[in-house]
Amino acid sequence: MTDIDLRSVVSEFATGVTAVTLDSEPPHGITVNAFTSVSLDPPLVLVCLDHDTEAHARLVSGEAAHYCVNILSADQLVLGEYFAGMAEGLDPFEEHPTETAATGAPVFSESLGYVDCSVHETVEAGDHTVYIGRVEAAALSESDRDALTYYESEWGEIP
Ligand SMILES: Cc1cc2nc3c(=O)[nH]c(=O)nc-3n(C[C@H](O)[C@H](O)[C@H](O)COP(=O)(O)O)c2cc1C
Repeated sequence: MTDIDLRSVVSEFATGVTAVTLDSEPPHGITVNAFTSVSLDPPLVLVCLDHDTEAHARLVSGEAAHYCVNILSADQLVLGEYFAGMAEGLDPFEEHPTETAATGAPVFSESLGYVDCSVHETVEAGDHTVYIGRVEAAALSESDRDALTYYESEWGEIP
């Protein structure tokens, strides 16, 4: 099994897309689809971050201690692209409305919902670190936007 084989098989798994924001100064965002709910009691979720990312570097260095998972709507494709390093442009933290979550991490107000976390535990897993987050706050948007998706390396949307 080669790297390419694994990537193409995994790309058959359709996912939603999140922008994980960090409470560093200045704030930082990264596009993540390796997000899952882990436990309801206690409330835990996880995200997997590549060791080569700036987001991982900020969490390891202690520049950030919290993360907020913003579940992106189809209207927020530009955030998904920007935080994946696929688009140049203006800083989304300046251009899109944000609020501050309980932990101090930024929330993009137009997200479908968010899950705001303190880092509960980290697990080293090959070239990624699994960041298990203790949920400090979570909220749903009142709007009825479509969800942003990622499937076979293409962006999409579902109602
Ligand atoms: C749809 C999509 C999902 C991604 N999911 C992850 C992920 O779960 N974990 C990860 O480390 N990188 C993921 N990436 C790649 C990062 O978003 C990308 O490497 C980014 O530029 C890292 O940003 P940073 O180095 O500024 O923190 C994903 C990219 C895309 C397009």
